[in-house]
Amino acid sequence: MTLLKAVRGTRDLLPPETELWNHVEAVTRRVFARYNFGEIRTPIFEDTSLFARSVGEETDIVSKEMYTWEDRARAQSEKSQSLTLRPENTAGVVRAYIEHNLGETGLLQKLYYIGPQFRRERPQKGRYRQFWQIGAEVIGPPSAGSESPLRDAEVLEMLSSFLDELGITGWNLVLNSVGSSTDRPKYVAALRQALAPVKDRMSPDNQRRAETNPLRVLDSKDPADEAIIATLPKIADYLDEASKAHFAAVCAALDACGVKYEVNPRLVRGLDYYTRTTFEFTHGGLGAQNALLGGGRYDGLSEMLGGPKAPGIGFAMGLDRLILTLQSAQIESAPSASAILADAFVAPLGEQLNAPALKLARDLRRQGLRIELGDGGFRIKKSFEIANKLARNIILLGEDEHASGILTVKNFATGEQTKIPRDQLASALQTR
Ligand code: HAM
Repeated sequence: MTLLKAVRGTRDLLPPETELWNHVEAVTRRVFARYNFGEIRTPIFEDTSLFARSVGEETDIVSKEMYTWEDRARAQSEKSQSLTLRPENTAGVVRAYIEHNLGETGLLQKLYYIGPQFRRERPQKGRYRQFWQIGAEVIGPPSAGSESPLRDAEVLEMLSSFLDELGITGWNLVLNSVGSSTDRPKYVAALRQALAPVKDRMSPDNQRRAETNPLRVLDSKDPADEAIIATLPKIADYLDEASKAHFAAVCAALDACGVKYEVNPRLVRGLDYYTRTTFEFTHGGLGAQNALLGGGRYDGLSEMLGGPKAPGIGFAMGLDRLILTLQSAQIESAPSASAILADAFVAPLGEQLNAPALKLARDLRRQGLRIELGDGGFRIKKSFEIANKLARNIILLGEDEHASGILTVKNFATGEQTKIPRDQLASALQTR
């Protein structure tokens, strides 16, 4: 029989590595709470058209990377529906914003999420088919200030504080403006014109994009097309005064709090919904897949989905990539990769002591201690061997200990063996 394995591009996360994941998630919740974000959890699959309409038909994500299936109708009254595993979470959040009329509060919605996303990409280091994102979105009616450049700067400042708190250094913030919905058509027309005489020399994918969605040519990773792409017009030359002023205000606010960045006029990002500010944080330690996170503004997205005017800005970090960065830097504040030891291993000496041992373990656990429970069927030598691997102390529970309520405890680090009354056990273990 062939053994089944995790599907290509997916993987199991095992302890103790999951301790590191939990640590990063705990820091996320702590830092984001200071900025008054609340958590949103949207479904893992959505109607396929949600992604086609937001991320864009011509993007790599929608045109080749989505896990899509036709969900059969189960009753005559039902219709079959095309469903897709979410390749990203912004579209789902904006759908939920519209569906639950969150705009009616008149306030900014500040929402974050932590969850798996799915893209059928070629797997390599830092790139998986099921990967995790930590993301956040700030969205609301214009009257709530959702278009203000201060929101962009605040989100970027939060990210820099988050990475600092995790102990990740050596990141670069790359920033650009892709203009408003009025700047974009002018730029796209200029791109189309510049591409017309040269596109036949480009890859088939880029030839198609040059016709259907020229902006996407800019995020092509085809090295053969690099030289042509370098000669194309730059978006910065097509921004109107309002977009330029917005971008300048974002930069000025970042300068004021000392967040370093670099402007890259080619950063258009691979999703169609962006307007004005776009950004990525890269990290040299990651290799080819060096984007730790990406994001930007999407002032027209809600309307693209049939909702009210609700400008927004957000980002998503690759959690797998954050973990890789932490592991390669061996950051001290992060939990180490070695197994976490239990406070004590409870060893019943004989099967008749199994039930009292469970009761003892229960009492200690209820007092907050991390306890491994052995088995009275083990020889004492075997109990010691296992306990030494898993715990800092072993508690021996034999007939005498059970009758007297005075337990024998051995500490593995010091080799010291002591007798401790049962009611003092928890506090004694806590100080060890
Ligand atoms: P994105 O740039 O497609 O943006 O993805 C954000 C981050 O997710 C990337 O920078 C990377 O760290 C991680 N990522 C993407 N694909 C993979 C993969 N196959 N394996 C591992 N990590 C990956 C978005 O998804 C937007 N929704 C971000 C956003 C939120 N914009 C506004 N709000």
